[in-house]
Amino acid sequence: MSLNDLLVKSKIFKDREVFSPYYLPQKLLFRENEISKIEKALAPSLKGERGRNLFVYGKTGSGKTSCVKYVINEAKNIPNIKIAISYINCRIYNSRYRILNKIITDNLPTYAKRGYGAADLYEKFIRWIEEDAKLFIVALDEIDMIKDLDDLIYTLTRVNSDIKKGGVSLIGISNKISFKDILDPRSLSSLYETELVFAPYYSDELYAIIKDRANIGFFENIIDDETLRFIAASAAKEGGDARFSLKILTKAGELSEELNLDSITIEQAKHSVKLAEEDIVYELISTLPEHLKLVLYSISLLSLTGGTYKKLTNGIDTYLFSGEVYSRYRSLAESIHKEPKTERWYRQYLSELEMQGLITSYESGKGIRGHTKLIKISYPSKKISSILEKEIFGVLK
Ligand SMILES: Nc1ncnc2c1ncn2[C@@H]1O[C@H](COP(=O)(O)OP(=O)(O)O)[C@@H](O)[C@H]1O
Ligand SMILES: [Mg+2]
Repeated sequence: MSLNDLLVKSKIFKDREVFSPYYLPQKLLFRENEISKIEKALAPSLKGERGRNLFVYGKTGSGKTSCVKYVINEAKNIPNIKIAISYINCRIYNSRYRILNKIITDNLPTYAKRGYGAADLYEKFIRWIEEDAKLFIVALDEIDMIKDLDDLIYTLTRVNSDIKKGGVSLIGISNKISFKDILDPRSLSSLYETELVFAPYYSDELYAIIKDRANIGFFENIIDDETLRFIAASAAKEGGDARFSLKILTKAGELSEELNLDSITIEQAKHSVKLAEEDIVYELISTLPEHLKLVLYSISLLSLTGGTYKKLTNGIDTYLFSGEVYSRYRSLAESIHKEPKTERWYRQYLSELEMQGLITSYESGKGIRGHTKLIKISYPSKKISSILEKEIFGVLK
């Protein structure tokens, strides 16, 4: 966008801020129950007792972060209570040390910034809690990103037996269902004192959410109900993700603005659904671990030229043999001086890619070289391969 565009007043956007991913709406629709459950978990702290730990789980865009932040803000506004609350984004603060350091920095800025070791930080933390029998609540968002999570949970729960007054309670938030499996049973039972599950939004709910946002963010009569319904239905199909529905809405506004239109029509909404879907695929791919990227890259390259199976079926089918993908992956890994993983790992990778919806596969019956797995890429191979080229070779250079 040029400076000139920025200076010309928008015909569409009244307030761009409300479309930012960091915007926290004042009104969180359809989440009264969830909010009151979070409040209940925090309530003891407000009365001077240690609260129960809470684990919040739900798919991306189901409103977990917004609801927890909403309750934290409420609690911060209650005067005269010895509670302290830290909200931590574990994508950024992803280890026990970083988190302790962040807690200290946020609450004791004069002490921090001097490169203390973990033991010093812990001591300081404990004394800080004890000094006025503080009740400390820490919300760990995207908690599954923490590398030494068992250690962290152990440390934070140990505080409660190391101190004579005050207390610490945790709110863990995650969108990874497999997260439970990697936790030590002891951490698991500490964290799961209470559990709260966020369901994905239905189409009608997404409609109300984006209508609300359109009302405060766009000028009047910019978007009609039919277009809003279309956006809500598209996002409902993608798993009921409110973030996705807002992304479509925002992009539709931007497209209409670029075209200098007076309103957002269904055309722009349809185009935006495609753009938003591409964004999601891009995000999905760029966060894959390295070897998964290499396997997917091999699949995309082979799909571009067509595998052996395509030759066998006279070019009609685009399935690849699992074996040919594996040998391509091996030579690709070797060519960039990475040790290829074993076939056992490779099969694991295939099922992960399939779970993410990036490929589909099926076991062939007898006839085609006995039993073998056939693989098909779910998105245009050219698109996937060019994203991965940047990801793999861009990073390795
Ligand atoms: N109930 C709701 N009402 C209004 N906006 C919502 C609601 N739930 C989610 N949103 C919006 O959707 C986006 C994603 O919500 P978020 O809380 O980040 O989800 P999660 O943490 O579960 O991924 C945010 O921009 C938020 O403003
Ligand atoms: Mg979140």
